Amino acid sequence: MSVHGTISGLEDIKWMSISENIIPHDHFIQMKDRIEKNGHLPKLMWFTGLSGSGKSSIASNVENILFQKGIRTYILDGDNIRSGLNKDLDFSDEGRTENIRRIAEVSKLFVDAGLVVMTAFISPFRSERALAKKLVGDHNFLEIFVDCPLEVCEQRDVKGLYAKARKGLIQNFTGIDSPFEEPLTPDIQVKTAKQSLSDSVNQVIEKVLPAIQF
Ligand code: ADX
Repeated sequence: MSVHGTISGLEDIKWMSISENIIPHDHFIQMKDRIEKNGHLPKLMWFTGLSGSGKSSIASNVENILFQKGIRTYILDGDNIRSGLNKDLDFSDEGRTENIRRIAEVSKLFVDAGLVVMTAFISPFRSERALAKKLVGDHNFLEIFVDCPLEVCEQRDVKGLYAKARKGLIQNFTGIDSPFEEPLTPDIQVKTAKQSLSDSVNQVIEKVLPAIQF
């Protein structure tokens, strides 16, 4: 069941009139104050790729290096967020779209908090990744395509989910019976079937470090 499917037309109208009466407040401490205090710019590093491509491993290692350098970081990770904030969402197109919309909004808050945020979600749709970029602003966004052929992800099958999907025990599995729209112009593309984890991590670090200096 998707969240969109539960909202009736009447509820839509109710929400529209509520949002008309919402007036955001400008708080005293602004993003620029946090940047000054942190000593670095915020960034949203958006990792996208198939399940098992290596998004979480790369993000985790990148965070470790940045953290040791005194950079304020946070990782939002698919399986973790889907165990809490987004546990009401399924893997239908609508469920994934809402998953990414919420993550994009949470990322926007964390970027406003001055953090270098890493998101590790399959995020299979170009339109939702574009929405995330639009929300935080082009200059705050780096799209990182963790590029790994389906055959390799399936062979790795760290969580045993591809085997279940092939047996028909899981529906709408990305790469099997649900699409993945590859990024057309990613800022970084790491090919995890061909390069080592540390090569991928270094490739990301080399790009992000200059991008967060001011
Ligand atoms: S997304 O498509 O909405 O961005 P997300 O990154 O949050 O997906 O979650 C993907 C993780 O959920 C996978 O790594 C896998 O462990 C698990 N998972 C469970 N069911 C599915 C499914 N049908 N398709 C893809 N991943 C699934």
